[in-house]
Amino acid sequence: MDLKKYILNVKDFPIKDVYFKDVTPLLNDADAFAYVVDQMAKFVVDCKANVVVAPEARGFLFASAVAYKSHTRFVLVRKPGKLPREVIDIEYTLEYGTNHQQMHKGDIKPGDKVVIIDDVLATGGTIEAIVKLVEMQDGKVEGVSFLIDLPFLHSEDLLQEYKVQKLVKY
Ligand code: PRP
Repeated sequence: MDLKKYILNVKDFPIKDVYFKDVTPLLNDADAFAYVVDQMAKFVVDCKANVVVAPEARGFLFASAVAYKSHTRFVLVRKPGKLPREVIDIEYTLEYGTNHQQMHKGDIKPGDKVVIIDDVLATGGTIEAIVKLVEMQDGKVEGVSFLIDLPFLHSEDLLQEYKVQKLVKY
């Protein structure tokens, strides 16, 4: 399936000189959304993972459906002030700014086999932070899956030690 048909390039959003990838048309198409969820769920099964981890907000859109389809647990990664119980926190760098990511302490159990899912891989700051959050709790990252890869924004050897799924590249 040609997924690029369902992803729009929006110039100067959220700030000037950034081309934002708008995935809402893909979510608006039942066949395209099902195709993406099926591909990601197959990857999770191939990785023999028992947990799917994803960051807000757009990572959630895919990961929750993928966890259901692959019958795995779903662990949320959120920005500060969103999770109500004790958290593990990590600072990370974004394409546009810095922030923190947090996970509820204990959501990852030692020995968990994890696939991390997100809509976009840009600089890699977010995924590197989430890998650390999982590994800080003795989980094992078996794979990372992205709808969209923007290879011009990150180094070639990023994530080399993991299984990686990328459904669309620009
Ligand atoms: C976007 C995107 C990825 C991340 C990729 O999320 O959904 O999670 O940036 O960028 P990186 O590879 O440079 O880290 P964002 O933090 O904008 O959050 P949002 O989904 O809540 O808008």
